Amino acid sequence: MCGIVGYVGKERAISKIMIGLKALEYRGYDSAGIAYAKNKKVKMIKKKGQISNLEKHLNYDENTNIGISHTRWATHGKALDVNSHPHHQGKITLVHNGIIENYDVLKKKLEKEGYVFKSDTDTEVAAATIDSIYKETHDMVEALAKASKTLKGSYAFAILNDDCLDTIYGIRKDSPLIVGLGESENIIASDIPAITHVTTSYVIPNNYDIVVLQKDKVKYYDQNKKEITKEIKNFSLKEETISKNGFDHFMLKEINEESEVVKRLISLYTDGEKVKDLVDISKYKYIDIVACGSAAFAGQIGKYYIEKFKNIRVNVYFASEYRYQKNFYGKDTLVILISQSGETADTLAALKIAKENATDTLAIINRKDSSIAREADKVIYTEAGIEIAVATTKAYLAQVIILLLLAIKGFDEEKSTIEDLKLLPNLITKYINNFDYTKISKLFVNKDHVFYLGRGIDYYLSMEGSLKLKEISYIHSEAFQAGELKHGSISLIDRNFGVIAVVTDKNVGGKTISNLKEVAARGAKIIAITNIHDDNFSDEKIEVDDINDVINPIITIIPMQMLAYNVAKLKGCDIDKPRNLAKSVTVE
Ligand code: F6R
Repeated sequence: MCGIVGYVGKERAISKIMIGLKALEYRGYDSAGIAYAKNKKVKMIKKKGQISNLEKHLNYDENTNIGISHTRWATHGKALDVNSHPHHQGKITLVHNGIIENYDVLKKKLEKEGYVFKSDTDTEVAAATIDSIYKETHDMVEALAKASKTLKGSYAFAILNDDCLDTIYGIRKDSPLIVGLGESENIIASDIPAITHVTTSYVIPNNYDIVVLQKDKVKYYDQNKKEITKEIKNFSLKEETISKNGFDHFMLKEINEESEVVKRLISLYTDGEKVKDLVDISKYKYIDIVACGSAAFAGQIGKYYIEKFKNIRVNVYFASEYRYQKNFYGKDTLVILISQSGETADTLAALKIAKENATDTLAIINRKDSSIAREADKVIYTEAGIEIAVATTKAYLAQVIILLLLAIKGFDEEKSTIEDLKLLPNLITKYINNFDYTKISKLFVNKDHVFYLGRGIDYYLSMEGSLKLKEISYIHSEAFQAGELKHGSISLIDRNFGVIAVVTDKNVGGKTISNLKEVAARGAKIIAITNIHDDNFSDEKIEVDDINDVINPIITIIPMQMLAYNVAKLKGCDIDKPRNLAKSVTVE
């Protein structure tokens, strides 16, 4: 969601900036823009649509060594050229990721001061706010310190000031921003993939730190204008470099990486027989799992595992609700936050609230050094490697496995479950390659509506399968507890409906099959993902192995991901960057 790249250095800036901006495409956007300094003037180009559209208007040989750029995911105002970033007011040109919540009040005040706004954005108001303060201070560090007290909401800014066009200023609050340190060149961006072509050394500014970035030096200041030192970190180029490795889409590549992810987690977090000391969750009486989207659905599987083994009561909440609802905090409660990006605004807010209420927090995170990872009391990394496709696959699976490891620690089943987990890499490869997903997907490609049906753990899995299908194929899809269908929603079913049935839980499988007969009788076509091999209850069947009720849910996700991928491919959808979606949801 919104990507920022700013570059200052020895090289021509436009090409350096655009390499970075393209590496942030995965975050999701609907317009892009750039501002650079040439002959002591700022030139700005902004276009709605793809980055390739902006590129048509750029001269890569332009003699400029400094610039800022942005991919915008619209929040305030439509996706139009005029609303795209950068925005310029007075001497200030800036790009922004986040939301300025009090922009309306500020806008009215600034209009009285004579500012005229061209766009509908909150960002242009931020530019004018900083400009208005700078007019008084004539000092950008002081202006930013003061502005950060005025601007409410979340932001990461990269800023040019007409008075010092050899410098990029940066400041963040609750939105991601990193500083990459090169040789006679420095870069500021939303995420590591955007800086790999310049450096592997980076600094993460804290909230409200002020960054002053020049070609040969970077300085950091606190809110009192005192210079501060920051820890320099390094990342491995291999992990952060973005490539499809010959696959048609990142999503397919990432599904194919799932066997490696499982092997990595077993080797990192077990000694082959026992789970290593990760975090002892046994001491808590209650656990709240808080996350968004797929991460929350992974949490549902975690609830099943933790309740089954640890006998601890677990509630799973969407973070956007959790942060505003009544919760029960205290020393006997653990709040587990799950997030691939580690930057999801609602999950980050939920974490802060739990901490403010003196409740222990554990984060299960994929992106190292992300905001949630830094702020939680304890962190377990999912080690799935960088995930580029907007629809999560390998990070979801890794989240489920970590939750299982936490749940089985200290139980008789610990050793046998680890043995079972070791079967997964081969099964994953088998399920990716052994089924004719193109043929099976054809059954659904023209459907407008699909229900995913399951009971118990199969229902929890269905939630994730359904989200995968709807987000990348744009087919309306919902997950239902199979037994609940006839209490209303079955009225929708007719021959235009598709049903994907997940039937792996032996305790309730027979009951789900009865429910499937009911939808078949009303004309719906059924694809079953099941380990019940001797009963015919669907039009197409994807037969998975029957390991046990702990492992079965994990393996079933692979056919669901492959089905969603193949339906979307048959429909010709933009699989890696579905419309309206962002990889990292850094606003509320
Ligand atoms: C769906 C998907 C989203 C994310 C959700 C949370 O495929 O990727 O539903 O799971 O936006 O994101 P993170 O895990 O980054 O907090």
